[in-house]
Amino acid sequence: MSDVESLPKVELHLHLEGAAPPEFIRTLAAEKNIELNGVFDAQGAYAWTNFAAFLETYHKACEVLDDPEAFRRLTEAVLAKSAADGVIYTEIFIAPDICGGGDPVAWGEYLAAILQGAETARATHGIETRFIPTCIRNLGPEAAVRAAQLTVDRMGPMVTGFGMGGEERHLTAADFASAFEFAREAGLGITSHAGELCGPHSVVETLDHLRPSRIGHGVRAIEDPELVRRLADEGVVLEVNPGSNIALSVFPRWADHSIQALRAAGVPVTVSTDDPPYFHTDMRYEYRMLADTFGWTTADFTALNMTAVDAAFCDVDTKTRLKARLTGDTP
Ligand code: ADE
Ligand code: ZN
Repeated sequence: MSDVESLPKVELHLHLEGAAPPEFIRTLAAEKNIELNGVFDAQGAYAWTNFAAFLETYHKACEVLDDPEAFRRLTEAVLAKSAADGVIYTEIFIAPDICGGGDPVAWGEYLAAILQGAETARATHGIETRFIPTCIRNLGPEAAVRAAQLTVDRMGPMVTGFGMGGEERHLTAADFASAFEFAREAGLGITSHAGELCGPHSVVETLDHLRPSRIGHGVRAIEDPELVRRLADEGVVLEVNPGSNIALSVFPRWADHSIQALRAAGVPVTVSTDDPPYFHTDMRYEYRMLADTFGWTTADFTALNMTAVDAAFCDVDTKTRLKARLTGDTP
């Protein structure tokens, strides 16, 4: 095992349902007597062939996550795995449209169960968690405004951001401006997926219309030097998920990934896993591959994690404690 794998880590981009191990989904399906068709391949891994098929499988698997208790168990399982991989702080995307189908009462119940799971994980494993509810882009602007309202209704110490995932090729960022305006005005941290499947224009539109402090992925910004300069000048932080990008063929090989060039150009980058079992990755694997591919050292990863703490949607005291843990100043 290379020593970078055992470093303490900060993760800013992880989808709760996307982190569900296939065994977890199979167990729940068996318990609930739900038949899942087309979700798993012959080896028992998640089956998908491209981004659209990935989203389809993802939402099919979510059919078994149909009550708050399932989400409490999922939260505990996901955080136990993150902690085992050395993650000390994580931000997790959840979706009011998946947790209760957008119904305010159900959303409250799902969220309470998720927060209970995170409290248990903190007590058991010492891992600190914040949640970022998201709208789902392909559900459209009205659903996005509703998701923002549901998020603001329940914002608090552990619900600190608002974001957007889903099919990036659907509509344009401007169509979602009012949802994000509402969330920002309420004081939530803002992030949005962009520049993953679509080119630099999607990052530019997202910066112009949603005004996030962070971009989920953003890796195709590298195709536009002016945009790279803008990201560096404005200090917009990229939540980069290299293993996810390789699995989805955004780049053909690790050596072709833009994270190295973006970092060299002064763009603040961080490293996360997105939907780890779908993309056959975890945080240890990401660190090992970055060390092996680009020669990143412990000092590089510590700097990367400091950037992630600065960009985190949490309070100053938590950031101070995290930085002390990253530099080994506290146990
Ligand atoms: N939802 C879950 N994973 C996603 C990804 N990688 N991009 C967009 N939406 C997602
Ligand atoms: Zn993502």
